[in-house]
Amino acid sequence: MRLPKHTAIIMDGNGRWAEKRGLPRTAGHKAGAETLKKIIAYAQKKGIEIITLYAFSSENWKRPPEEVQTLMNLFRTYLKNDVNELMKKGIRVSFIGEREKFDADLVEQMNRLERQTADFKGFHVVLALSYGARNDIINAARQLAAKAARGQLKPQEIDESFFSAHLSTADLPAPDFIIRTGGEERLSNFLLWEAAYAELYFTPVFWPDFNEEELDKALESYAKRERRFGGLKIKQKV
Ligand code: IPE
Ligand code: IPE
Ligand code: MG
Repeated sequence: MRLPKHTAIIMDGNGRWAEKRGLPRTAGHKAGAETLKKIIAYAQKKGIEIITLYAFSSENWKRPPEEVQTLMNLFRTYLKNDVNELMKKGIRVSFIGEREKFDADLVEQMNRLERQTADFKGFHVVLALSYGARNDIINAARQLAAKAARGQLKPQEIDESFFSAHLSTADLPAPDFIIRTGGEERLSNFLLWEAAYAELYFTPVFWPDFNEEELDKALESYAKRERRFGGLKIKQKV
């Protein structure tokens, strides 16, 4: 079966999963963290090379402070225990997003995990934390403008690959496949530039209920799709 080399997931629906059960939204986030562990392990087993997971958007800071606080504590525990375990298994871990917005101890953890796994080949897990694609694009534009202002760059030297090299995803191939759980059919500021030719998959399943079988279903759907990138089907008569 043809597999996406780089799969990205918008892990949505934690809050509604909890509400449906009469639980506080934060219980949904806790359950979601368990799903994350399971799905990372399964994606590796399936042979996906890179998995990018949207865990917190640059807009999610707008949520009530108690919810944001719970999420921060979950990230803290997750980075210390689970992501640390990934590192021990030889998995490369990196982060995209506005790192500086997090508490110093979290920033330190992220930097350490990235540093210690930078040379790991094989499976790569990318966590998007306080990530927003528009922000990322603006950052790239600013870097290029600064270079141009210093006379180090001519406007005509800016092409797609040069621009891509200034995004936080510079060292990653574009995602082949983007899955969104939770029933909404939108990107919510995720990988806008990189998603130009990604195959999209939406499922109503809430993230805490997403499992190996659901990932298999998604991957089967991907395998059936024909990617044309604006070209034509192979072996088609013109
Ligand atoms: C996704 O679940 C997790 C984060 C955005 C942090 P939500 O919290 O958005 O859950 P719903 O969409 O309200 O159900
Ligand atoms: C997108 O979900 C962000 C993450 C899953 C981390 P949201 O719940 O924030 O998206 P909207 O607000 O429904 O678009
Ligand atoms: Mg949501």
